[in-house]
Amino acid sequence: SSLHDFLQRLPKCEHHLHLEGALSTKVLFELAERNNIALPSDDEAFRSPEALEKRYQRFTSLDDFLHYYYIGMSVLIHASDFEALAWDYFQHALSDGVKHAELFFDPQAHTSRGIEYSTVLQGFQAACQRAEKELGISSLLITCYLRHLPVPESLSAFDNEQVQESYKSGAVTGIGLDSSENGFAPKMFEKLYAKARKQGLRLTAHAGEEGPASYISDSLDLLKVSRIDHGIQLAHDAELVQRIAREKTMLTVCPVSNVVLKCVKEISQVPIRTFLDAGVRFSINSDDPAYFGGYILDNYCRVHEAFDLSVKEWESIVRAGIEGSWCADGRKEELL
Ligand code: HPA
Ligand code: ZN
Repeated sequence: SSLHDFLQRLPKCEHHLHLEGALSTKVLFELAERNNIALPSDDEAFRSPEALEKRYQRFTSLDDFLHYYYIGMSVLIHASDFEALAWDYFQHALSDGVKHAELFFDPQAHTSRGIEYSTVLQGFQAACQRAEKELGISSLLITCYLRHLPVPESLSAFDNEQVQESYKSGAVTGIGLDSSENGFAPKMFEKLYAKARKQGLRLTAHAGEEGPASYISDSLDLLKVSRIDHGIQLAHDAELVQRIAREKTMLTVCPVSNVVLKCVKEISQVPIRTFLDAGVRFSINSDDPAYFGGYILDNYCRVHEAFDLSVKEWESIVRAGIEGSWCADGRKEELL
């Protein structure tokens, strides 16, 4: 329809995409075979790509998803595996009308399996450079730290020589915080964020996906992040809504993810209307598209179906996404 075309053509920026979450079941099984990685034999979901796909349709929570997410990425071994994964994402991004992408990855989930950070980075960078040249899609990389692991491990991962080199060279722009949320409060990561801030890195954190609104304010006050990933629990704190609107902090909202992981019952319960009415800036993103069954355009379409937004509202959402991006001002002007 013309509306689908309109949504497709909007110059989208994606700010909340885990590259490991772009691993399709097909590629997962192919790489498991090629790299000789044994998948769990005691879980029937791993009998076939189709069975696994089916299991993905009944996640019960963030942690239930994360269980499969960490097993899935165990098939990624060589730089070429990481490159192919990111390249596959960029193909979807192109057809969905993405112009600029800020991409998360989880270094600790690979180094803990004996995969060198430089291998991961090399593969992702190769895909990013090719996407810029061949597809005209600009991108940035963001290392996320895993909040379910002991805090000292995040600090030593941050201090890793190869990781530091990637920050200093500008290969990686910022840090984020992901994985299990409840029980892993922002405060635990104050020291990590203070170090990253001192180095001039951009800062974001997952907060208020399953966790309370106080994790959002603590991420702002203690970690000093400039944006919030998910942030949907913000809607339960009217005062905090006003603050986020006033301070123009962007939320990277992932509506399909929120439904699939049972953070909300349906798309209409994602507080899109609340955010629009209060002037809260947000972008719409896909999170882990291969696991949740929808890339960014699916998220745009589902939001449109649920909220029947006007052309003006869509244009303001897309503009907020460009302005909230971490790319150079010159790139933003090209997109506006
Ligand atoms: N939340 C927390 N951790 C994650 C997610 C998410 O949505 N995706 C990948 N790691
Ligand atoms: Zn996420």
